[in-house]
Amino acid sequence: MVRLSAPLVATFGLFANGALGALEVNLDDPESIKSTAEQVAKDLLTFYRGDEPGWVPGILPGPPPDGDYYWWQGGAMWGALLDYRHHTGDKQFDDIITQAILWQVGPNKDFMPPNWTASMGNDDQAFWAYSAMIAAETGYTDPPPDEAQWLALAQAVFNEQTHEDRRVADGRCKWGLRWQVYPSNNGYNYINTVANACYFNIGSRLARYTSNDTYADLASKTFDLIQRLGYISDAYDVYDGAHLPDCTEINKAQFSYNAAMILQGCAFMYNHTNGAEPWKTRVDSLVDRMLQIFFPNGVAFEPSCEPGNCNADMESFKGYMHRWMGQTMQLVPETYSKIYPVLKTSAAAAVAQCTGGDNGRMCGFHWTSGAFDGKVGAGQQMNVLGALISLLTPSVAPPLTNATGGTSQGDVNAGSDQSVMPSFPPITGGDKAGAGIVTAVLMTGALSAFAWMSMD
Ligand SMILES: *[C@@H]1O[C@H](CO)[C@@H](O)[C@H](O)[C@H]1NC(C)=O
Ligand SMILES: *[C@@H]1O[C@H](CO)[C@@H](O)[C@H](O)[C@H]1NC(C)=O
Ligand SMILES: *[C@@H]1O[C@H](CO)[C@@H](O)[C@H](O)[C@H]1NC(C)=O
Ligand SMILES: *[C@@H]1O[C@H](CO)[C@@H](O)[C@H](O)[C@H]1NC(C)=O
Repeated sequence: MVRLSAPLVATFGLFANGALGALEVNLDDPESIKSTAEQVAKDLLTFYRGDEPGWVPGILPGPPPDGDYYWWQGGAMWGALLDYRHHTGDKQFDDIITQAILWQVGPNKDFMPPNWTASMGNDDQAFWAYSAMIAAETGYTDPPPDEAQWLALAQAVFNEQTHEDRRVADGRCKWGLRWQVYPSNNGYNYINTVANACYFNIGSRLARYTSNDTYADLASKTFDLIQRLGYISDAYDVYDGAHLPDCTEINKAQFSYNAAMILQGCAFMYNHTNGAEPWKTRVDSLVDRMLQIFFPNGVAFEPSCEPGNCNADMESFKGYMHRWMGQTMQLVPETYSKIYPVLKTSAAAAVAQCTGGDNGRMCGFHWTSGAFDGKVGAGQQMNVLGALISLLTPSVAPPLTNATGGTSQGDVNAGSDQSVMPSFPPITGGDKAGAGIVTAVLMTGALSAFAWMSMD
């Protein structure tokens, strides 16, 4: 059930020798990093059609079979572009970013638009909340007062995911956040790291932004849960998750974004608590282990799929890892000397393989060989964008809080408390094959890397 995305046309052959127009950068020069990042951001947006008539704002073409990308990856892309903006001061994409995010907030202002119900995972919803949180933390232009506000959007998602309807009622995995929102979705009984790590990450950031201890307590409780279930091992390996009833048969696949979103959350908690334990030990241990697992020879590598086939979801993980490790250097300055040199060798390798596509500078996913791998994509561009800007993070303004200039309006009661009922958009003419198609969509939908493991 792992979806293998159809390779886009490979044009490697055309440029194999001359590397015409290949991407270039001087990583010792912040201005060079910025101008190369601008090129990569523009090339990233060539995959986006949502600002053209007849396309839906906010999303990348999809979901399969209509295009390569699930709903969540659009949300992730706006986060990457907001980070790009914060690191470079480049505001040229503001209109497109604001329109995209606000289009997808949905009727309850909680990033649950009915169009995407059939594949709504807690992690998918959270990736949109990340983008709203980045907007709040970087002082991005607030929406008009009658629209949803950045901070309130993140609070809405967090509040809904705190709700017992989304959680395991009892037993060994009690209080675990389920992967899927709706009981009828495959993966509802998969209690995975990513859903809980997303919640942890948003909670840690709301704690720091608002200084409301409830968020810190819930974040802390979540870290303890993930660790107690064994999803974070004693060696600080971060595993994928396990099923009900008892969450004991752990799928030990390690994906970079899981470890990185936990690391970033720990960095926020560390900073919020003024460097207190246990957050310092957690940050240091995760950094050490991640450098071993995900950066063989100093270049980002996705060990659980890169030797075989990564899908379009997985093909975007390296960029998050770079950005979130970059922010760790900022919030936990002591980690700089360990992290920075590795992000730099990794970014150099990332740029070196960007010799593909019609323009001769598009990027592939594999960074270790130094050669373009023949397949372009939004994830591929997002990864290189993340690798470039993460080198600038230590010198840009740290995330704002409501006491240091953050202006985004919050709402502690945001979100719907309506209980979660199975509900699906009507089957349209396109779904002629009926239930079989719906089932296939459910099984491959959402942040679907492991949908196939989640057949309950
Ligand atoms: C939902 O789908 C309709 C029909 O394709 C589209 O017009 C609308 O923009 C979509 N809304 C969202 C939030 O995706
Ligand atoms: C928290 O982050 C700020 C901004 O980068 C940094 O100056 C400060 O030293 C950090 N706090 C701790 C305890 O490391
Ligand atoms: C920040 O938010 C917290 C919790 O909502 C509130 O108690 C505090 O007064 C706010 N601080 C400022 C400076 O607005
Ligand atoms: C802190 O957050 C909790 C959880 O959302 C909320 O119930 C409470 O009202 C908040 N407290 C303040 C002072 O804003």
